[in-house]
Amino acid sequence: MLDVSQVIAQPAHAPAPGSDGSISRHDYRPPAWLVPDTRLVFDLDPAATRIVATLSVTRNGMAGEPLRLDGAGQEPVAVRVDGAAVNDWRIEGEQLVIPLDGDAHVVETEVVVAPERNTQLMGLYASGGILCTQCEAEGFRRITYFPDRPDVLSRYAVRLIADKARYPVLLANGDPVDAGDLDGGRHWAEWNDPFPKPSYLFALVAGDLAVNRGSFTTQSGRTVDLGIWVRSDDIDKTHHALHALKLSMAWDERVYGREYDLDVFNIVAVDDFNFGAMENKGLNIFNSRYILADPDTATDYDYDAIAAVVAHEYFHNWSGNRITCRDWFQLSLKEGFTVYRDQGFSADQGSAAVKRIEDVRGLRAAQFPEDAGPLAHPVRPDSYIEISNFYTATIYNKGAELIRMMATILGPQAFRAATDLYFTRFDGTAATCEDFVACMEEASGRNLSQFRLWYSQAGTPRVAASLSHEAGDGRATLRLAQHVPGTPGQPDKQPMVLPLRIKLFGGETGKPLIDEQLVLLDQASGTIVFEGVTERPVLSINRGFSAPVIIESDRSAAELGFLSAHDDDPFARYEAMQQLMLDTLVAATIEGTPNHAAVVTAVRNTLADSTLDPAFVAEAVLLPSESFIGDQLALVDPEAIFRAREALRRELGVRLADQWREAYEQAPAGPYVYSPAAKGHRRLRNVALGYISASGANDAATIAFRQFEAADNMTDRQGALTTLASSHADEREAALDIFYNRYAGNGLVIDKWFQTQALSSRDDTGQLVAELARHPDFTLANPNRARSLVGAFGANQRAFNAADGSGYRLLADQLIALDKLNPQTAAKLLPPLGRWRRFDAGRSALMRAELERIAATPGLSRDVLEQASKSLG
Ligand code: TRP
Ligand code: ZN
Repeated sequence: MLDVSQVIAQPAHAPAPGSDGSISRHDYRPPAWLVPDTRLVFDLDPAATRIVATLSVTRNGMAGEPLRLDGAGQEPVAVRVDGAAVNDWRIEGEQLVIPLDGDAHVVETEVVVAPERNTQLMGLYASGGILCTQCEAEGFRRITYFPDRPDVLSRYAVRLIADKARYPVLLANGDPVDAGDLDGGRHWAEWNDPFPKPSYLFALVAGDLAVNRGSFTTQSGRTVDLGIWVRSDDIDKTHHALHALKLSMAWDERVYGREYDLDVFNIVAVDDFNFGAMENKGLNIFNSRYILADPDTATDYDYDAIAAVVAHEYFHNWSGNRITCRDWFQLSLKEGFTVYRDQGFSADQGSAAVKRIEDVRGLRAAQFPEDAGPLAHPVRPDSYIEISNFYTATIYNKGAELIRMMATILGPQAFRAATDLYFTRFDGTAATCEDFVACMEEASGRNLSQFRLWYSQAGTPRVAASLSHEAGDGRATLRLAQHVPGTPGQPDKQPMVLPLRIKLFGGETGKPLIDEQLVLLDQASGTIVFEGVTERPVLSINRGFSAPVIIESDRSAAELGFLSAHDDDPFARYEAMQQLMLDTLVAATIEGTPNHAAVVTAVRNTLADSTLDPAFVAEAVLLPSESFIGDQLALVDPEAIFRAREALRRELGVRLADQWREAYEQAPAGPYVYSPAAKGHRRLRNVALGYISASGANDAATIAFRQFEAADNMTDRQGALTTLASSHADEREAALDIFYNRYAGNGLVIDKWFQTQALSSRDDTGQLVAELARHPDFTLANPNRARSLVGAFGANQRAFNAADGSGYRLLADQLIALDKLNPQTAAKLLPPLGRWRRFDAGRSALMRAELERIAATPGLSRDVLEQASKSLG
């Protein structure tokens, strides 16, 4: 149950929140006042920062409406209107309400905040010795009084004043204007951002920072000064990020025609950050894990993620900043589109097929479970209690799939015309998802009425597909039926538009029987007839994962094995292999009598196919995760799933022992390089090492330890450590100790040390994690560290779901403790407990008990309260 007294009171005339404190999309009203210009003066100090805000305000609504400014935590020291002190203001809830007679005024407020005591990491806070800000979604109100909503766009001029020795670098949005020294060892800097922006894009940074500078010349010939700002010790780890930034700038010009618009673009890395990074105009602020890299400390995965996040935040300059969101229900307008854009960028840097495989794996790991659980919500939600809880895989990743489907339906030319139209028409405004779809329609002449259901209906559609063949008349018939499962608040669904790429292959010759077709299934069911099919056809469907759906087909193990070897689309080959593995593992889990033969043959064939890219082979031969197997079952038995999966891993390890050794040895020697080819070899080598270890070979730990010691890069070192961390060999302790000592003091690498152990498949992982939570290096104050242990443990299906409930208790204890410091990050640890409906009565009762204990905690944040009460259902 939700305790209404914990929800911040709202003034009577603002849209009334629901009885549970929720905000509704349909209650949107335009702002009563606009703020064309904002001047901010910060007198920075970690203990007491004084902020004077001067807002020029103009009436946008009815006469008599007072000005309402959002605040949180602070109190006004002074309020002035048109230069004169006033005292007829009042505080309603957390809003500062100022009666104003005319239609245009200058309103000045003065407040004092304490960044060093800000553990939420929202608003102005301290990270290490750096002062920085995070304003999305509603952090600006923790800095100063303001209409803190994304449809109030203002031009900002900012003056920063600080101690020069402690904070030699002073950065804010836009372009630098001027700087100078003051008495008492203090100095100042002025920044001006000519582009009107919502308050959530405001940023400042003050600190002792070193810079890696670069420059980029735009397509129209303007020079942009680039800077990556970090602690001076880390400066050698910024080259990859700077390079990725230049590639991103060029890519957005080439692919979307988008040019950068200021004279400077700065990125700052900080260690304490709730999310990955933030797209503040001209001054991106990053979690240092998405900036810092060198071969000794960052894996290939980290390098890829850094480039993807740098691109993502840079792309927001157009999809997010130049065009922002009217309200937070439209969040996917900027996030879904920007993820789609960064996926396209990453696909162009290496293997597009492997990138698609990774993205689909991520979608299935994070978004499908969300869509199937108590926190399911549409890509454009209808209500929320705490907006921070809606930065989800559904908004981001399913949102990106919606854009991808529209791109597929429109084709590349019409899609580009539509994005051009969108960028031109809505530049400088706060737009809606509807505006975006309307541009897709207008530029293409297509009707997307029914497609819009993708924005409003939650849940992953299921598609039953069955192909029959009438050999005599050369006709094949494909029967399709879709079903969208009920989700909280949405019991009944309408059929959606599903773009399905389909092809048929000859079961005897392996040859394509038809050209690939794009089928738009927009009814509950449909039939497609293919003529001239002279050979027994095998169905390849949802190629490239053209629709984010679950396909339920009646294809046999033989047919899936055939496709895994003969489909001409690498993604489809991967999918066939995954489906074959999944069918095998689900059957083994339920029946306990494994039939491994088809998987062994398919994996053997894939390993033997020398035409394949090693990066692809590495992905294709990986078994589906324990959680993904669990997602296929009505009742998750984590032990049975683990046993079934380990048995198949061992079987593959034993039966293909020579092939794994060969794949392992094959990797070319020589020093580390970061290239698609070298990455692929390292990946395959580490996957092979995993299978050598799974086979139970006597020398497995020796090989892993040798790799660990010989490695000249983190990918190989962590790959070996991951294998050893799940073993009982003596080398395990040795490697963990060496790793820890070698990297003591390097927070990002010590995170890996915690995470690797939390993901271990050993029986005693729960105890180990409990011990690690008492390790001197463990702290909840740093979100990366909290996630590396507690977040990773929640993702370890078997360890977390220990039958005695110890895993649930551990997670709940940590979550409750973290909520007192950082509600946003605490709330993100909760979803694994919300899966209780999928487990046996014993586990389910234990999970519910922990959710109830969390919900009953006095002083609980709105963030966690919303997630806990929704999860209890
Ligand atoms: N807009 C950011 C992004 O996707 C997300 C983000 C950064 C965020 N910091 C946040 C979201 C804090 C919520 C709270 O790039
Ligand atoms: Zn984003």
